[in-house]
Amino acid sequence: MALLHDGELTAAFDHASRSYDRLVAANPGYHGQLRRSARRLGLPDAGRGLRVLDLGCGTGASTAALLAVAPYAEITAVDASAGMLARAAGKPWPPGVSFVHAPVEGLADAGVAGGFDAVFAAYLFRNVTDPDAVLGAVREALVPGGRLAVHEYTLTGGAVPRAVWTAVCAGILRPAGRLAGDAGLYRHLWRSVLAFDTAAEFTGRLRRAGFRQVRALPLPGWQTGITHTFVAATAGAREEGA
Ligand SMILES: C[S@@+](CC[C@H](N)C(=O)[O-])C[C@H]1O[C@@H](n2cnc3c(N)ncnc32)[C@H](O)[C@@H]1O
Repeated sequence: MALLHDGELTAAFDHASRSYDRLVAANPGYHGQLRRSARRLGLPDAGRGLRVLDLGCGTGASTAALLAVAPYAEITAVDASAGMLARAAGKPWPPGVSFVHAPVEGLADAGVAGGFDAVFAAYLFRNVTDPDAVLGAVREALVPGGRLAVHEYTLTGGAVPRAVWTAVCAGILRPAGRLAGDAGLYRHLWRSVLAFDTAAEFTGRLRRAGFRQVRALPLPGWQTGITHTFVAATAGAREEGA
């Protein structure tokens, strides 16, 4: 089966939005791992005066992680799936958080202006059709010295992480997805991770896109060797100290 892309993928997420939070709740580390990655943005002063973009916010789990580490930031959360976004927007948020229904490929058309101090993208890049183009747009959306954190399934390249990922999918994630009526999306989840960049490859992709200070940081637990936080910055004022 080919991977899902664009409209097909968005439709699959629309359907899966009904059960997404329930499935995520069954993974006790999910929210903690997102908070760890959001913290790795290193946002100063609890986010006071900062504008932060959450790309592919889904039902708002990554938005909540950003809010936990930067409660005073102005957060714009974007997603292509109306179903996922409705779940996110239906939760209680402080006034500084807003939601925009748009593909990340069409931020400007959706009125999302640049000048962000930081961008967070959790479990997004593996799903986009042209990750290099999206990274270019992210770089443009950031201020000089702006920061990027990408939280993504990216295998370290050895046989063991591939085998563990396939076992977790076969034993837990895909059966749970089938029960929820989302077999296609959870098959896509499994296959897209195997097909996407390794951690080293994504690091190279970030550097080629013009990001500086690129680092791939591991995450603890069963996701070690399977999921990483990538931190990077645009060239500019904060480059030396970021
Ligand atoms: C696996 S979910 C992750 C959601 C959230 N960031 C989290 O950590 O729980 C991926 C989300 O990315 C969104 N997405 C995928 N491709 C997209 C695109 N090209 N533009 C905007 N959103 C996209 C999907 O609709 C989905 O809600």
